[in-house]
Amino acid sequence: MMKSTHLAVTVIAKQSNGAGNLLLTLESASDHPLPAFTPGAHIDVHLPAGGMRQYSLCSAANASAYEICVRLDPASTGGSRWVHQQLLVGDRLTLSAPRNHFPLPEAPRTLLFAAGIGLTPLLVMAEALAEKQADFMLHLYLKRHDELAFSARLTALGERVVIHYSSEGDSLRTQIPADLRMPANSALVACGPTGFMESLQQRALEQGWQQDQLHSERFKPDNAPITAGDSFEVEIASSGTRFTVSEEQSIAEVLEAAGIDIELSCEQGMCGACITGVLAGEPDHRDEVLSQKERAANDCIVLCCSRARSPVLVLDL
Ligand code: FES
Repeated sequence: MMKSTHLAVTVIAKQSNGAGNLLLTLESASDHPLPAFTPGAHIDVHLPAGGMRQYSLCSAANASAYEICVRLDPASTGGSRWVHQQLLVGDRLTLSAPRNHFPLPEAPRTLLFAAGIGLTPLLVMAEALAEKQADFMLHLYLKRHDELAFSARLTALGERVVIHYSSEGDSLRTQIPADLRMPANSALVACGPTGFMESLQQRALEQGWQQDQLHSERFKPDNAPITAGDSFEVEIASSGTRFTVSEEQSIAEVLEAAGIDIELSCEQGMCGACITGVLAGEPDHRDEVLSQKERAANDCIVLCCSRARSPVLVLDL
């Protein structure tokens, strides 16, 4: 069940933006301007065949239109393939309002590490840091030169950007940038596919970074399966009503079936739409959106994918 604001937009441009990527420019289809957003925010794009996909907003600051960059996933079951092959300039789309569960952390120095299309949220962060003359570096990892997207905006950031091409033997596996050897007073912000993120985290921890200095957003394939596990109960705090979540169900499925109004979007533990407070019990976090600190606090849960380590979870609903 979706209860977030819907935005009607028109596709006003569709351009190639590095091999395999399309940059879409979307303007409001109504008299109302599109809502402002902060670096790291994403939107849900509603697909005509049903379902949604999440994309980071990559418009330059103060732009009145939204921009999103869509990479063609060879395994796509409708999202990126539909955007690349069927969506046309002039078409209308429905979006969610921007949501940000990947905000730019406050730190004296910020290191941004992106791989591939993971650049999109980090480019906006880099431009925000440059605007306030903050201390930062952006490291971008690509396979080949033809994959480079946003080249003019990267060029405008000057020496704050280092691009690493694995086709030239420069990858995280082969070289550790000097910036990564200096964790003091810094935040490390990363976005990319799972393999890159795991490699980066391992390198960072080896270099003395602490978990609370690491901030990340990773990709998951389309239609990632909901994780199953042991059965448990959830209790609705406001009513005391209890429901059993079976081995194969998610909490979200059980609550929706009971007619309880919850906000859902990606249903893959990525977007944060369904984060809900936990008043008692211990969550078994299976999501990609909560930070280590938020997980350790045990006071919230991602309903679409996470489960329980305790027999009962009391939800703040
Ligand atoms: S709906 Fe996206 S994290 Fe649950």
